[in-house]
Amino acid sequence: MDQPTHPASVAGKPTLPGARVSAAGAHPAPPATLIIFGAHGDLTKRLLMPALYNLAGAALLDDGFKIVGVDRVASDDTHWRDELTSTMQEFTHDKTAEFYVEHVDEKAWGWVTQRLSYVQADFSKPEEVARLHDHAHGNVVFYLAIAARFFGDVVEQLGKAGLLKEAPDAFRRVVIEKPYGSDLESAKKLNARVLAQAGEQQVFRIDHFLGKETVQNIMALRFANGIFEPLWKRDHIDYIEITASETVGVEQRGAFYEPTGALRDMVPNHMFQLLSMIAMEPPNSFDAEAVRSEKAKLLQAIHPVRAQDVVRGQYGAGEVQGQHVPGYREEPNVGRVSDTETFVALRLLIDNWRWAGVPFYVRTGKRLHGRQTQVVVHFRKPPYALFRDTGVESLTPNMLTLDIQPHEGMTLSLTAKHPGPKMALAPIDLRFLYKDEFALAPNVGYETLIYDCLIGDSTLFQRADMIEASWAAVQPAIDEFGDQPEFYAAGTDGPQGAHALLEREGHAWSPLAE
Ligand code: BG6
Repeated sequence: MDQPTHPASVAGKPTLPGARVSAAGAHPAPPATLIIFGAHGDLTKRLLMPALYNLAGAALLDDGFKIVGVDRVASDDTHWRDELTSTMQEFTHDKTAEFYVEHVDEKAWGWVTQRLSYVQADFSKPEEVARLHDHAHGNVVFYLAIAARFFGDVVEQLGKAGLLKEAPDAFRRVVIEKPYGSDLESAKKLNARVLAQAGEQQVFRIDHFLGKETVQNIMALRFANGIFEPLWKRDHIDYIEITASETVGVEQRGAFYEPTGALRDMVPNHMFQLLSMIAMEPPNSFDAEAVRSEKAKLLQAIHPVRAQDVVRGQYGAGEVQGQHVPGYREEPNVGRVSDTETFVALRLLIDNWRWAGVPFYVRTGKRLHGRQTQVVVHFRKPPYALFRDTGVESLTPNMLTLDIQPHEGMTLSLTAKHPGPKMALAPIDLRFLYKDEFALAPNVGYETLIYDCLIGDSTLFQRADMIEASWAAVQPAIDEFGDQPEFYAAGTDGPQGAHALLEREGHAWSPLAE
């Protein structure tokens, strides 16, 4: 069958999801076959396919690109295509879906569906995995969009079947989703199993926060502007807050969430990626190893976290955005006396010359009253003496707020003179919003990650040592957990203890947005 030529190359100049790849000169990735384990899973339907559709629309995939879905479910090429097409259609009608488009561009979607094929296989059976040889020609990316308990086994099956063997003109790569281990020991074991089958440069461990444009922008902000870096240290910074608050509950993921909890689910991965972007030393180049080595050094410098610096919370029933919602213990597949935390706040210290003594406060939780991911850098207070004989009673420290989502942008909070004959001060904000400055293409956050994997750029992926350093930092706290988490009503800003954690040092969280 003739494959349609590239939609966007016909339509004209590509518009790119994600500014990093939309930079002038972006070119299609080399031809490759993407073999997705977990073809029927939610991740494939909700994120991978829309991302591939966006990449196709932006002319970033080669005409020789192919997609093979692998799953245990009995299906075939036509059924799989139809199923994915109907999920894509759903997005066009559901404005609340993660990925919403006005209408699906038939040309771009047709380009994707022409390249789909389906293989029914039980990936726990070596002989069935070996059958993939029929589809694995030339460059191949194996994408493990499956439950974490299968990661090690599948990589082993692929390795033993010879499917990870590279040739000078053909790469073999494996993309591994999160969670990568459930503690330090299991993460080390998984690394050892994976690296027994594939070289580190073949392994792409996903942390989808790194696909967010605003997370990548932290590097641009810090290193493409001369004004921040001289201030970016303990001499000028009082403390830093990192928040990822969600309004959603655990939804249908109770079985996964029960043994996991907020700390394991979010902290050693997403929150620490934000932390390392904010706090790492400037790398010497954008080379993947240069950037990842600086991140690894930063993660290794986190002082091991003890339970006294951690507050865990669990949501009870309450009201979120006008809707009554049940408590965590009433959710499906959750124990009625569960002590799993759905909120966690931590105080971290970083043992290096730049940050010694500066607390980093990290909090994340579900069923809070606003959805907001942000970093707030609190600068030190200026000396007050000059204002002693004026009506000014105190000075407000400057803050730099980086809004990661949903209102992507940043705000620098300053103080100005209030107009009038007297010396009076007023807070002012300098605000930048992405949507005001740039035309943003629909983007599910996986476009850059898939493209980078195809072109072999590991910068935005986790290296084995980063994963292990992150788990090592939180492991002492995990080992010390004993008490029940503190309750908070759904729709609030979390447990009281989270405020007390900062009050100890005269600090405070920024209020969560509505
Ligand atoms: C996932 C967690 O990795 O990240 C979820 O497992 C969480 O519990 C999600 O809701 C948050 O990601 P985002 O992109 O929606 O902020």
